[in-house]
Amino acid sequence: MNLRHRHFLKELDYAPAEWRRLLDLAAELKKARADRAEAKRLEGLTIALIFEKPSTRTRSSFEVAAYQQGANVSYFDETGAHMGHKESIADTARVLSRFYDGIQYRGSRQDIVETLAAHSSVPVWNGLTDEWHPTQSLCDMFTMRESSGLEDRDISFAYVGDARFNQGRSLLIAGAMMGMDIRIVAPEPLQPDGKLVATARRIGAGTGARVTVTDEVDAVRGVDFVHTDIWVSMGEPKEVWAERIELLTPYRITTELLERTENPDVKFMHCLPSYHDLGTTVAQQILAETGREVFEVTEEVFESPASVVFDQAENRLHTIKAVLVATLA
Ligand code: CP
Ligand code: NVA
Repeated sequence: MNLRHRHFLKELDYAPAEWRRLLDLAAELKKARADRAEAKRLEGLTIALIFEKPSTRTRSSFEVAAYQQGANVSYFDETGAHMGHKESIADTARVLSRFYDGIQYRGSRQDIVETLAAHSSVPVWNGLTDEWHPTQSLCDMFTMRESSGLEDRDISFAYVGDARFNQGRSLLIAGAMMGMDIRIVAPEPLQPDGKLVATARRIGAGTGARVTVTDEVDAVRGVDFVHTDIWVSMGEPKEVWAERIELLTPYRITTELLERTENPDVKFMHCLPSYHDLGTTVAQQILAETGREVFEVTEEVFESPASVVFDQAENRLHTIKAVLVATLA
């Protein structure tokens, strides 16, 4: 299987077997690093990292993966290039392709990363748009494999929260591709659109995945993993906080919700960043303005032995490295 020169824009662009190959490669690369036996397969290459939104994990993963593999990077923040302001996306793609061996893009619009890819002669990787977060879902599939030791088709997980945005959508499709038992648990206004659910079910018909979409929290019964995400995503106006808190408070990840899985070994996952205490200015502002807590997960769950969020964060590195090696080496 050869993934060289392929773009990485969304899960749906990959066949399940190709996605599995990336997961297997991530495991090989993680082990090689731990054994101090990592071979540098990207020496002499240079990649462009365009971030129109902030990032801690994704940026670190692309940079560190590149360095560990012998490649170099250039970082552009939202004001660091003419793209979209004084130069079209298509022209930017054609220019950057003459300098770089690959381009990472993070921003709001999926059509921008798709346009970059359409006009680029080097691989383009989606580091998050409002629609998809494929490097995250690859990491999440990897982390569920690693921390359960189960075959993909035997893994069950619930995603509890706003399921219309990147994280919920990507987990739904990636889980369907891997043949998992997926429970999307969200209040009706925050459930994924019917077309996407139909797509997941169609994929599931081939992979054996089972897809449940419900507003009933009891649907978490029996799952191996409970995932959530922040209630208001990057780029959304702060006015939506009040409504989101209202809708999602019953779906907050608490010890009681984890107990409802009836699985004493259930694990908690979160792509991060997370509001779980008052250690952020945003959480403090929302509390001051609305008198309400914005926490999608309690401190008790976040800090509990069930929480694998920092293993998950580290796995961004190994899985993004797999994407770089597979598409460039
Ligand atoms: N999970 C994730 O994408 O984190 P960053 O926003 O820090 O990259
Ligand atoms: N849904 C979140 C994910 C952050 C990694 C956001 O878009 O802000």
